[in-house]
Amino acid sequence: MKISVIGTGYVGLVTGTCLAETGNEVLCIDINEDKVKQMQNGVVPIYEPHLDVLFERNIKANRLRFSTSLKEGLDHGDIIFLALPTPEDEDGSADLSYVLGAAKDIGQIMDSYKVIVDKSTVPVGTADRVREAIAKETTVDFDVVSNPEFLREGFAVDDFLKPERIVVGSSSDRATQLMEKLYKPFVRSGNPIIIMDEKSAELTKYAANSFLATKITFMNEIANFCEKVGADVDKVRAGMGTDSRIGKRFLFPGIGYGGSCFPKDVKALHKSGKEHNYDFDILNAVIKVNDVQKKILIPRILSYFNNDLKGKTFAIWGLAFKPETDDIREAPSLYMIEELLEHGVNLNVFDPEAMPNVKRKFGDQLNFTSDMYQAIKDVDALIICTEWSIFRTPDFNKLKSNMKNLVIFDGRNLYDVNDIKAEGFHYSSIGRKS
Ligand code: UGA
Repeated sequence: MKISVIGTGYVGLVTGTCLAETGNEVLCIDINEDKVKQMQNGVVPIYEPHLDVLFERNIKANRLRFSTSLKEGLDHGDIIFLALPTPEDEDGSADLSYVLGAAKDIGQIMDSYKVIVDKSTVPVGTADRVREAIAKETTVDFDVVSNPEFLREGFAVDDFLKPERIVVGSSSDRATQLMEKLYKPFVRSGNPIIIMDEKSAELTKYAANSFLATKITFMNEIANFCEKVGADVDKVRAGMGTDSRIGKRFLFPGIGYGGSCFPKDVKALHKSGKEHNYDFDILNAVIKVNDVQKKILIPRILSYFNNDLKGKTFAIWGLAFKPETDDIREAPSLYMIEELLEHGVNLNVFDPEAMPNVKRKFGDQLNFTSDMYQAIKDVDALIICTEWSIFRTPDFNKLKSNMKNLVIFDGRNLYDVNDIKAEGFHYSSIGRKS
């Protein structure tokens, strides 16, 4: 099939590349000329495991091409994916100006039947607004479909190629049939393509992300309470998660959820509720608890150092909002860094992928180190913000001979409490006895 993808951010690029992988002819459109040139030269502009292999293979096979021309995109594709940014507005709602702007342009250019697919995470009712924006500009026949993505950063290629489900919101049989044909190769295992109306599809995405954020936040509160009563959240998690109604995943407590999706989507659903006179009390609580959780280690760091951090040097391991990505959007590490700098702390930081992004934000306020052991040299404490695999089994002898104080504040519960204490460390983690 002939597919065009408008917007080559993380979602657009993964979508375009994976659709080319099943033999479709994909043209990706972006207004950023430098980026398009870069991609035409075979350079993947984002870090996402396994994407580079598929990218190269499909460019070579001439199934994946790039352009800055929207007109070329509309001439090429029978299905046009909109994978444009929907940033958070000042009031927490999703800013639809990119999506609606593209819809208007599409209406002006389109000269034959197209299926326009909303791939971006957009508020309920957006498919109708896109339809209106296009219809104002043209008399040509078209359909608008909502097809939310459920890709996790770091696992996006796998999630796209082997999805647990595909959600398609469509009120046109013609468009539904095309979408089913497009996605059939991805659900050979029997996983469903769930067809519904556009509004339900739009809400499904927000409901799924908000539910997961709520699940994590609930566990963070249980962890905080474990500390009060002397229980161990690892045990509680194992006891709860084996109930298949609850499930084992997304029950890991830590220093809060971050990223470009959960924080934005929870706020957007909350705001959307308000616009329809519905107060999502539960989401209000999730937002509030997560804001506090991101800084939960600060009071205990202060207490350990008798409220005087001035001139101390700490190492931070992990800056990305989660492992296997260089993304630092809403990363708990940023909140920690800001707070610790205010207290006059010197910070040595290390992350396998995210350091260039953090450098752009903090510049020389931080000491960027070339490996995890250089970061801990002569430090008063080590703080762990992201659970990269490389941090899970460090050489404790190196830590012991290089750190000034054997103190670890672990926001991701990487180590066994008894083991690390036996190594002689003061160890504070989330929801476990210290
Ligand atoms: C999330 C969803 O998982 C995807 O299904 C969705 O498509 C995507 O948002 C999106 O809307 O585009 P992502 O933001 O990449 O994916 O990251 P997750 O792996 O879901 O993690 C989100 C945050 O929750 C991270 O900060 C992570 O550290 C935190 N988390 C996750 C926990 O604190 N505990 C857990 O048990 C799991």
